[in-house]
Amino acid sequence: MSNATASPALAGPADLRVPSRRSHIESRHEKGDSYFNLLAYIASNAVAGEIMAVENYSEMVPLMPDTESKIEAVKQAHEECKHILMLSSLGKRHDYDVMREIVEPQWFNIRRHFSTAVANKDLGACLLIQDLMTETMAIVLYRTLKREGDPDTSSLAGKILEDELEHLEIGLARIRRMREDDADAINDSLRWAHHRVMPELFSMVSTSCHFLCDRLHIDCGALSLGDLKTDIDEIRIEALDAYVETLDRAGFEPEVTAPLVEAMQSYGGMPSASAGLAGH
Ligand SMILES: [Fe+2]
Ligand SMILES: [Fe+2]
Repeated sequence: MSNATASPALAGPADLRVPSRRSHIESRHEKGDSYFNLLAYIASNAVAGEIMAVENYSEMVPLMPDTESKIEAVKQAHEECKHILMLSSLGKRHDYDVMREIVEPQWFNIRRHFSTAVANKDLGACLLIQDLMTETMAIVLYRTLKREGDPDTSSLAGKILEDELEHLEIGLARIRRMREDDADAINDSLRWAHHRVMPELFSMVSTSCHFLCDRLHIDCGALSLGDLKTDIDEIRIEALDAYVETLDRAGFEPEVTAPLVEAMQSYGGMPSASAGLAGH
């Protein structure tokens, strides 16, 4: 099949060729290399989170009590698949690498805790880990990209954000129903999941990494959230606020949540703690 753009008759002399897609996009919003290195890092880590989410939602299906919620969980997994493809295509459009596999160890750790919850048949812990904790962090991330990203990134983040907000609502509704049946059991699930998963999630609110920058061939030390008009402390504050709000909306009493939030100080989850915990 012939392709008009590849036709030699239309190619023209080299110096008159249209600029590359990236330089065209860049000239519209004037973002430079450090911004795109930061986006490569963020998008790659986001894809890892999405891959974990696909596996979590899929593994949760057999625990779902009825067919409707099984269908809903599969739909959630499918939406996470779309997010992976959307983030990959964003990187292609802007000419930066986006990993298509999990690199950072925290995602494997969370995934392992999730599998333990499945083995324990603890649906409450599964929902808390995936729908509430992970989704809350995803929401903070995509909100930041929507607010401060270039127009293309911003609109893509906005679309993903809508799905993640819906996933959070699904989780909140499920947890509230389970709390009506047995609030004590869900409180125990929260304590179990919180201490395992929140340190892992919060340690990724950092521009230091274990292996990701090496894999992307970017300079870890040169990444700055200033390129998104924010900093680590600001995002940590926003993430902590969002997490507290999520727990509150799920119906957990302050007596249950206060000690958990306080414990975050000890593993550096609080905004006042130094940034770059996961750093090398
Ligand atoms: Fe997602
Ligand atoms: Fe999601």
